[in-house]
Amino acid sequence: MIASFQLLTGLLALTTSAVSSVVQPRSITPPEGCPIPTWVVNNFQWHNASHSLDCVHHPYDYPEACLCGSGWCKPDPATCNGTMVNPCYTGMPNYEPWGYGPLETLDIDFADGLQCHDQYIGYRIHDIGNGASNCGYADRGQGRIVSFYGTSNLDSSIGHMDYVLGSGHALTCANGSSITYSGSVDFPLTCTHDAYFNATCTAPVFEIPVLSYQWV
Ligand SMILES: *[C@@H]1O[C@H](CO)[C@@H](O)[C@H](O)[C@H]1NC(C)=O
Ligand SMILES: *[C@@H]1O[C@H](CO)[C@@H](O)[C@H](O)[C@H]1NC(C)=O
Ligand SMILES: *[C@@H]1O[C@H](CO)[C@@H](O)[C@H](O)[C@H]1NC(C)=O
Ligand SMILES: *[C@@H]1O[C@H](CO)[C@@H](O)[C@H](O)[C@H]1NC(C)=O
Repeated sequence: MIASFQLLTGLLALTTSAVSSVVQPRSITPPEGCPIPTWVVNNFQWHNASHSLDCVHHPYDYPEACLCGSGWCKPDPATCNGTMVNPCYTGMPNYEPWGYGPLETLDIDFADGLQCHDQYIGYRIHDIGNGASNCGYADRGQGRIVSFYGTSNLDSSIGHMDYVLGSGHALTCANGSSITYSGSVDFPLTCTHDAYFNATCTAPVFEIPVLSYQWV
């Protein structure tokens, strides 16, 4: 039997003074005798170049690139001395085909050592900024799933992050029961853009509060 509890603690603190645009909930109190994790993101870096190859939101269903030797040539079927291919196919030599900018990359590093590194590669495409990051993939069997939602198109915006601790990382309470947790948070996201609108986004150190638990 699995009992789950959703404890909402977000509406605790309303003061008459300055109201922050981001009201941060605090972590729940864990059940008696149970440890509770602390999830602090101490490094957040997102590079989304204006011409990064985006295989999820590409304007063409079948983008074409010229694979010539071990590199890329101009994607013109008339002059391509190699093979015209879909650059989003699995196994391409790199993901910066002719005409595309540097790879989009996302790094989310936690104080406890968990690192989530994401980039567009054909066989493992995450929709960066719209859900699960590579932590959810690399740690799939264990299930530390970190999801990020946000935009790199604004100088200043609010990002959102969810953390689900899967049963492979369950913690043990004093009485021997196993428990897992999940949490989420909104955080300030700051992006700078160069003359080509390449975006570099960062966030200050922030904590994802633990908002619910589950017996496993
Ligand atoms: C351990 O304690 C929790 C409450 O703190 C309780 O819900 C759970 O059923 C207990 N487990 C066992 C095996 O007694
Ligand atoms: C910025 O965008 C331009 C044009 O797409 C590209 O040539 C350049 O490599 C990009 N630079 C970075 C740091 O992303
Ligand atoms: C194809 O042509 C380009 C120049 O147009 C050259 O750089 C490249 O090495 C050629 N590749 C092969 C496989 O011949
Ligand atoms: C990444 O950058 C591209 C090009 O500027 C933009 O169209 C896209 O919306 C960005 N992705 C996200 C999730 O903000």
